[in-house]
Amino acid sequence: MTELGPVIRPRRLRTTPALRRMVAETSLEARQLILPVFVREGLTEPQPIGSMPGVVQHSRDSLRAAAAEAASLGLGGIMLFGVPSAKDAVGSGACDPHGILNVAIADVVAEVGDALTVMSDLCLDEFTDHGHCGVLSPDGRVDNDRTLEVYAEMALAQAAAGVHMVGPSGMMDGQVRVIRSALDAAGYTDVSILAYSAKYASAFFGPFREAVDSSLQGDRRTYQQDSANALEGVREALLDVEEGADLVMVKPALAYLDVIRRVRDAVPVPVAAYNVSGEYAMVEAAAANGWIDREPAILETLLAIRRAGSDVILTYWAAEAARLLAR
Ligand code: PBG
Repeated sequence: MTELGPVIRPRRLRTTPALRRMVAETSLEARQLILPVFVREGLTEPQPIGSMPGVVQHSRDSLRAAAAEAASLGLGGIMLFGVPSAKDAVGSGACDPHGILNVAIADVVAEVGDALTVMSDLCLDEFTDHGHCGVLSPDGRVDNDRTLEVYAEMALAQAAAGVHMVGPSGMMDGQVRVIRSALDAAGYTDVSILAYSAKYASAFFGPFREAVDSSLQGDRRTYQQDSANALEGVREALLDVEEGADLVMVKPALAYLDVIRRVRDAVPVPVAAYNVSGEYAMVEAAAANGWIDREPAILETLLAIRRAGSDVILTYWAAEAARLLAR
């Protein structure tokens, strides 16, 4: 070594796969992954979703099979989204015990029992004909407090169907508090709440709208957050913890890694992040064109979301990533 050679050599810790594995700061494990799934009323066969290659709208039967597979892969959970065949202004299908989401919850719980945490989206946008996450007031705005009454009823329907954890994703003020008290008053004290706390009005939800056959009129900027704001995301998360959230979520993930980190540092509960439809579609589209190497890109994406500070990740790649990690 010449006098000018390095004395400190960080490369030494990168010498072999075994050493790199030993000193890895962040882990990615199947138990940390939650699979979001869509189930559509009236389907007999699963239907592909064009903008999300590899993801389908499930029939009730194919959903049960997907849930059983998720459990056998050791995933952390499954998050159910329902696509009703009829929608109306107040999203009646959401509270109907025979509504698609509620029957699907019961199906999945019957299939997997406690082997997998069964979660459900608690929001009206899949059920309303205008596509908003709440009910509208006569002037066409989303009525926060009337929506809360519907969310409380929806929570009870999901709890009655056997759900383990509800995921309020509508960004209404006070939603966690209202849902917690409705569940508690009905004796569902063990049903937990994964609060979508910092949810941004995002272009990366695009493919999801196709997945749930949504025909959104206008945008969600009066209730979802402005992407300029990170501190506001921390405030939303702190409020949700105060209102009784068991976990808090940041969504989307990739364009908000800083928010994930700030929320992780601010709250004393597990933090989830949602690797959303548009993030999935970007990687799939580039990989299909041969522009990026798909499997390493998937694992790098998920690891980045973990490194930013999320404890668990909702990702359409959950089952595949579990398989990749096992080999
Ligand atoms: C609302 C909801 C949305 C997503 C999950 N829950 C859509 C929205 O707020 O517009 C998006 C998920 C994704 O893009 O993967 N119920």
